[in-house]
Amino acid sequence: MNINDYTDWLEIDLGAFKNNIKRMKQITGKPVMAVIKANGYGHGLVEIARAALQGGVEVCGVARVEEAFRIRRKGIYGKILVLGGAMPDCVPFVMAEDVSLTISDLQTAQTFSAEAVSRGGKIHVHAKVDSGMNRLGVPVEEGLDFLRRLNEMPGLEVDGLFTHFARADEIHAGTTEAQLERFLKFLDDVERAGLRPSLVHASNSAASLFFPDARFDMVRPGIALFGINPAPDAVLPEGFTPILQWKTRLISVKDIPAGSGISYGHKYFTRKTERVGVIAVGYADGFRRVEGNQVLIRGKYAPVIGSVCMDQCMVNLDEIPEARLDDEVVLIGRQGDRQISAEDIANSWGTIAYEVICGLPARLPRIYRDA
Ligand SMILES: Cc1ncc(COP(=O)(O)O)c(C=O)c1O
Repeated sequence: MNINDYTDWLEIDLGAFKNNIKRMKQITGKPVMAVIKANGYGHGLVEIARAALQGGVEVCGVARVEEAFRIRRKGIYGKILVLGGAMPDCVPFVMAEDVSLTISDLQTAQTFSAEAVSRGGKIHVHAKVDSGMNRLGVPVEEGLDFLRRLNEMPGLEVDGLFTHFARADEIHAGTTEAQLERFLKFLDDVERAGLRPSLVHASNSAASLFFPDARFDMVRPGIALFGINPAPDAVLPEGFTPILQWKTRLISVKDIPAGSGISYGHKYFTRKTERVGVIAVGYADGFRRVEGNQVLIRGKYAPVIGSVCMDQCMVNLDEIPEARLDDEVVLIGRQGDRQISAEDIANSWGTIAYEVICGLPARLPRIYRDA
């Protein structure tokens, strides 16, 4: 199929993605681990992994072993770190395919060590310590003992050590400085004990950009590489651009008489004869069933009216009389001199831009450009 056959699709600019990687490297002066979990933040895991490695990242960070498996199955052999938990059954795969695992507790470490030894090989691991996120990782206060014991375990090769910040996108919260102080003190002890692995990393996008002391040996951004601001107060510097556009088409245009109920539940009634368009996007495409949605048609904003259906929704075209059947409709992206960003949608849905893009389902065809 070519792009003109689709009625609802994503356009993804891999050239812009590579430029964002370049910009991150320029600003931080550090190697980059591109975090591409959750289907490459909705942009497509395999294509994003390939582009990330072509764009010069050192490592791809994923959440799950299944994601590493999908990348390797496509013949992509760059370094991969699984940032989340893993089950012991994955050991043959991670050993054979040289995929690194995160170890966040001693019990898991012992299980993986025994599995590796029984198979006569080694698993490459990064140790995770918790400096205040209170998610995965051994508390930093117990981190030195954890690291010492990991290093003594046969079958494990400790290549990295890391932590994660809870509020780096709230630049002025003070929490990141506090987490960093705890991590730095711990790192001092680690260095004195001669246990510092070659790769220490801590910084997601916001920390990479706004907390230079937290860059260590490698930065670990996700959202910034997709050209999206980590938060309203953590805005990307110049030179980053969004790489995704979400488009659909106008598949019906009708004049509907005054007083007519529109869509399921008749939540909207026309106040006069209204020109109503149907666009080929619905909640099964990730377009939420909430009030206040709007789209771009012929460079103008068109409000969505009535409930969003599974595959379609309706828009009011009274201000866009020039709209015609088959017109391209923009949900995220630019048309003329107007734009709708993932951040705008997040704002209108009462969520974060991460959730908007990670929620874009597999159903949407992804069309890649790599200029
Ligand atoms: C452990 C870890 N590191 C890095 C990131 C990247 O974060 P961001 O997308 O905010 O840059 C994430 C994302 O959630 C993460 O879980």
